[in-house]
Amino acid sequence: MVSLHFRLSRSVIALGVALTLATSAAAECTRESLLAVANSYLAAQTSGKTDGLKLAASNFTYQENNKKADIAKGLLSQPLKIDLNRSTADTVACASYSMFISSTGSKPYVVGTQIRYNGNDTSSIALIDTIHATTGDLFFNAKKTLDYIQKEDWTDLEASKRPSRDVLKKAGDAYLDMWTDAKAADTIPWGTDCERVEGSQYTRPCGGSLPRGGSAKPNGNRRYVIDEVVGSVDVLCSFDSLGNMPDSHEIRIQDGKVKYVHTITALGR
Ligand SMILES: *[C@@H]1O[C@H](CO)[C@@H](O)[C@H](O)[C@H]1NC(C)=O
Ligand SMILES: *[C@@H]1O[C@H](CO)[C@@H](O)[C@H](O)[C@H]1NC(C)=O
Ligand SMILES: *[C@@H]1O[C@H](CO)[C@@H](O)[C@H](O)[C@H]1NC(C)=O
Repeated sequence: MVSLHFRLSRSVIALGVALTLATSAAAECTRESLLAVANSYLAAQTSGKTDGLKLAASNFTYQENNKKADIAKGLLSQPLKIDLNRSTADTVACASYSMFISSTGSKPYVVGTQIRYNGNDTSSIALIDTIHATTGDLFFNAKKTLDYIQKEDWTDLEASKRPSRDVLKKAGDAYLDMWTDAKAADTIPWGTDCERVEGSQYTRPCGGSLPRGGSAKPNGNRRYVIDEVVGSVDVLCSFDSLGNMPDSHEIRIQDGKVKYVHTITALGR
């Protein structure tokens, strides 16, 4: 009996080890793995080479400014010198958001990209979803944007000071609802010292001069990356309230109040 029990438990342990090995082939969705892929995306953009990215063999989609595109011909195939980048991670949705500014090339860019996966496996990228703005887009001036954004502080918040996922999602939604809902602006916890950078247009405090309804068309097709550690939400959307513009709105909440708002808006050309 003793030896049978011993052999049984050994085989249970062996099975456990085999299962662990099998699941570790698929990379788990952790903050570290999400940020590692975000960095590999930024490295790919720097080199203009996508071979270092773990794209899913099937079910991979590349999207630019809300339209499906060919990754081999898109922005990611053009090497860009990146002046500033920053990424956030959403371990619940298993997604990341990266923003970067490239201000010195012949064509400057400000870019926001969400990355999603098959299941929760960060070794299998299912979607690279990019909003990019360049010369001619709304309030576009990459050097001015860089100048504002590089002064900001986006360090992780202390565990006790992190806004909940729900608070972040509501702030992102209320912001995008301001154009259709006259009461939305008053539901947002504006910080007195909050800064808004829309393209390169700077407003401080950011809770001044807000839209209060007026459009019949809600901003649609919203995709969220919510990071409680940084206290941020990024929403990619189609900015339909003002006319079907591919758009990214990112908000950071600090001490329970909105501290930063960034927008990247393309004109859908
Ligand atoms: C992104 O920014 C970090 C510093 O915040 C820097 O160390 C890294 O090299 C940058 N990545 C790229 C691809 O420029
Ligand atoms: C396919 O990719 C999407 C994201 O673009 C993801 O939500 C979905 O889970 C993937 N499908 C499968 C079968 O894994
Ligand atoms: C991914 O992980 C989240 C959080 O642990 C879980 O709620 C969700 O069901 C998982 N999704 C898949 C497709 O495994």
